[in-house]
Amino acid sequence: TKHLLGIKYLTPEDIQLIFTTADDFKEVINRPVKKVPSLRDITVANLFFENSTRTRISFELAEKRLSADVVNFSASSSSVKKGETLLDTVNNILSMKVDMVVMRHPAPGAHHFLSQHIDANIINAGDGTHEHPTQALLDAFSMREKLGDLAGKKIAIFGDILHSRVALSNIFCLQKLGAEVMVCGPPTLIPKHIQSLGVIVEHNVREALKWCDVANILRIQLERQDLKYFPSLREYSQYFGINRKLLDELDKQIVIMHPGPINRGVEITSDVADSEHSIILQQVENGVAVRMAVLYLLAAGR
Ligand code: CP
Repeated sequence: TKHLLGIKYLTPEDIQLIFTTADDFKEVINRPVKKVPSLRDITVANLFFENSTRTRISFELAEKRLSADVVNFSASSSSVKKGETLLDTVNNILSMKVDMVVMRHPAPGAHHFLSQHIDANIINAGDGTHEHPTQALLDAFSMREKLGDLAGKKIAIFGDILHSRVALSNIFCLQKLGAEVMVCGPPTLIPKHIQSLGVIVEHNVREALKWCDVANILRIQLERQDLKYFPSLREYSQYFGINRKLLDELDKQIVIMHPGPINRGVEITSDVADSEHSIILQQVENGVAVRMAVLYLLAAGR
C-alpha cells in the first residue's frame, strides 16, 4: 500500500503487521536512546488544515524518532489564508523534495483527491467526519495490550457517532479484528445507516455499559453541527455522560478510553477519566509507536 487513506482499505493482516511493528517500536521508545535511523533521508511534511494537539505532536515525535527530516505546516498561519488552493499548497511544498505527507483536513475525501494528483505517500491524520485511521489503530493497539486478542471482545463507542471520524475508523478496525461493536448515544447523533455496517445500536447508557468490555467515549463535536438540533450540554451529560455512579452499578470492571480532547463533565466525569480503569494516557503513549509503525511500513514500500 502506498498511502494510509482509511482503515476501510486495510486487511486484518495489514493491521496485525502494523501492531507487531508497533510492538517493536514501543520497546525502542522506552529505551534511554529513543531514536532509530530507519527514515534517514526521508522528508515528511505534516500539513494541518484543522486544529490538533495529540495527532500533530505524536506524528512529529514518531517522525523524529525514526530520524526523518520534518516540516510542519499549519493552515491558520499560511498562504491558504490568501486564497491558495489545497493542490497548489501541497504541490509547492512537494517541490521542495518532500517524500511523505501527513495531513489533517476538514473535507471528507481530501486525501483521496490528493492521492490522484501527487506522488508522495499520504497518511490521513483525520478528514472531516470521515476517517482518522491512526487513531483507530492506536485505540485497537491499546485494547489489545489490555485484553489480548480482540476477537469476540465487546466494544461500545459512546457519544457523537454522527460527526465522528474516530467512530467510523474504530468500527472498521475493530470489526476487521473480529470484535463486536456497539454504538450508544442520542438518536439525533447516531446516523440511520450505521446498522448497515453491522454494529449494534443502543440508546440506553446503562444497558451499553452492562454489555461492553471496553467503553470508548467520544467528545461532542460542537464545531461540526447545527446547535439548534442539539440537546444542552447539561442534558447530554445527564442522560449520556459516563460517571462513577454508573460504573459502580456494574458487577464487572470495564476499560475506559477516550481519544481526546476531553470535555470534562460533559461526556465523561473527571473521576472516570482519571480512574484506575482509564487508559486514556496509554492511548496517547501508544500513538507514537503506532505512527512510527505506519511511517516505517509505508517508507519501506517506497
Ligand atoms: N485524538 C485526536 O485526534 O486529538 P487531536 O485533535 O488533539 O489531534
